[in-house]
Amino acid sequence: MNSTPSNNKCLSKVIVMHGPNLNLLGKREPSIYGTKTLREIDQDLALDGERLGIEVICFQSNSEAEIIDLIHKTINEDAQGIIINPAAFTHTSIAIRDALAMIEIPKVEVHLSNIFSREEFRKKSLISPVVTGTISGFGAYGYTMALMFLADRLKG
Ligand code: DQA
Repeated sequence: MNSTPSNNKCLSKVIVMHGPNLNLLGKREPSIYGTKTLREIDQDLALDGERLGIEVICFQSNSEAEIIDLIHKTINEDAQGIIINPAAFTHTSIAIRDALAMIEIPKVEVHLSNIFSREEFRKKSLISPVVTGTISGFGAYGYTMALMFLADRLKG
């Protein structure tokens, strides 16, 4: 069933950022991260976005500096929301945390795996205190959940 009218106007723009090693999803430890490729996740998000009336723009980078530059760019891009899976930078990057902290739009941190049920070093996120909320452990569906939250938040 397709409930999206064909002339559905995109009201909001959401930027999705995927951090290091996520470009290899599908091949990378599938028992932990699932079998979907990043391309499939991004395609599904674009479809979710169409349904929810949100323009979804996805990026992936293995570089901390590029992710920070991208966060800075969202200020000028008139994006209304951010979904970010900072991957390993979640546990190490004060610089990404600081960049996110100064952006005053809803921000959702997503992790495919449940970081709280894994190694000790993954249980601490430097990002969680500066985002609206964190979704962890629901696989690729976590991105859809994040977009649904943002759609609801941005509706008003
Ligand atoms: C991850 C969890 C991180 O600990 C890890 O470094 C990743 C992926 C996740 O999506 O479950 O690269 O962010």
